[in-house]
Amino acid sequence: MSDKYIIQGGTPLKGEVSVSGSKNSALGIIAAAMALDGPCVIENLPKIQDIRVLLTICEELGAKIEWINGNTISFDPAEVKTHTAISENVSKIRGSYYLLGAFLGKFKKVSLLLPGGCDFGSRPIDLHIKGFQALGGGDLREENGIISIEANHLKGAGVFLDMISVGATINIMLAAVKAEGVTVINNAAKEPHIVDVANFLNTMGADVRGAGTDVIKITGKPYLEANRSYTIIPDQIEAGTYMIMAAMTHGDITCTNLIPKHMEPLSAKLIEMGALVEEGDDSIRVALLAEDKLKAVSFKTMPYPGFPTDLQPQATTLLTSALGTGRMIESVWENRFQYIKELQSMGANIVTSGKLAVVQGSELHGTTVFARDLRAGAALVTAGLMAKGQTTVTNVYAIERGYENFVDKLKSVRAQIEVVP
Ligand code: UD1
Repeated sequence: MSDKYIIQGGTPLKGEVSVSGSKNSALGIIAAAMALDGPCVIENLPKIQDIRVLLTICEELGAKIEWINGNTISFDPAEVKTHTAISENVSKIRGSYYLLGAFLGKFKKVSLLLPGGCDFGSRPIDLHIKGFQALGGGDLREENGIISIEANHLKGAGVFLDMISVGATINIMLAAVKAEGVTVINNAAKEPHIVDVANFLNTMGADVRGAGTDVIKITGKPYLEANRSYTIIPDQIEAGTYMIMAAMTHGDITCTNLIPKHMEPLSAKLIEMGALVEEGDDSIRVALLAEDKLKAVSFKTMPYPGFPTDLQPQATTLLTSALGTGRMIESVWENRFQYIKELQSMGANIVTSGKLAVVQGSELHGTTVFARDLRAGAALVTAGLMAKGQTTVTNVYAIERGYENFVDKLKSVRAQIEVVP
């Protein structure tokens, strides 16, 4: 049984929140560390459930991992001798699929239990497979939920992604760093964590150029010596969640230890809605006066540098506190509005049609709601912080998969939130 949060709404959040390391970077970087030929040190690793599960999988496969201090680990893949990852843990998180690319590069073959993760519609991996096949991983089988890929000879090639995919871009990059010759990924995703994984690989001896643009060129190396330290970037989505909470509660929060450039798609929208957004070198302050009202606006989720789909539930929730009619178009995932019925049970006036949600500002009231996935759960907490009365959020395991010290950070900015076992 997962814990619950009990939230008393109506307190403006005020103070400072330090942003943790990026979950999605960390997932790619840990998988990348499995492909190395030497040990490395990874700093600013968020201590969250998804990361703990991936580290456990790596240990099951032979990696030696030690926590050096709070958020730093040493990681040694020397004893990783198997290409088969089929324990129950593998199916618990989406990020385990990065072992496909990492092992295909390292061993030229891989068997993996297909991964789980948040459910927002079908989550195919055809683009990943297409990329692996272009590199020579043509021998592919799927049996009892286990996918096996083998390459006689892994050789660099041109890959064109029909759709922009974060996962496929990282996975193909992971295989290509050890393929012979040059791989070019066209129509690559440009998310900050793609650049982070590429920077990690380069620090460890790989040759990846162009990450952050839509053409990434990778020159394979037979051996990645590693023996270096790397610090993971701050989590764009965690930062964005607290920025939205500041505006939602008419509060005043300074998020520190973030990269303001990564927040621009959200900062621009908050300014358009009438919130104060002040950028520092590595911080952003978001504030809204008690007497001010936010203006409704239209959002459309897009691959980076567009508005991130992982902030869609939180931003839709923010629209419930705005004056007028707001719109949210979800263009990345086919079915990411399931949480809206929970918001409706709190009094939200939202009508959905396919990938469009139309939101009329309305007063929310507390009730019991279910966190069906990570960001949906964060959105319900955001709603609870502003709702009249008491909100109980159940299944908070889903939230703690992705937010480090969530409740402590919220309490430090005066949120009235308690964990009930
Ligand atoms: C990653 C993030 C997730 C985020 C998403 C989009 C991680 C661990 N997860 O997920 O939080 O919501 O990016 O920013 O980093 N698609 C295909 N075929 C494929 C792959 C993807 O059709 O082979 C489609 C998907 O169904 C989806 C779209 O492409 O509609 C984007 O998916 P993708 O960018 O691959 O998301 P993930 O990497 O799974």
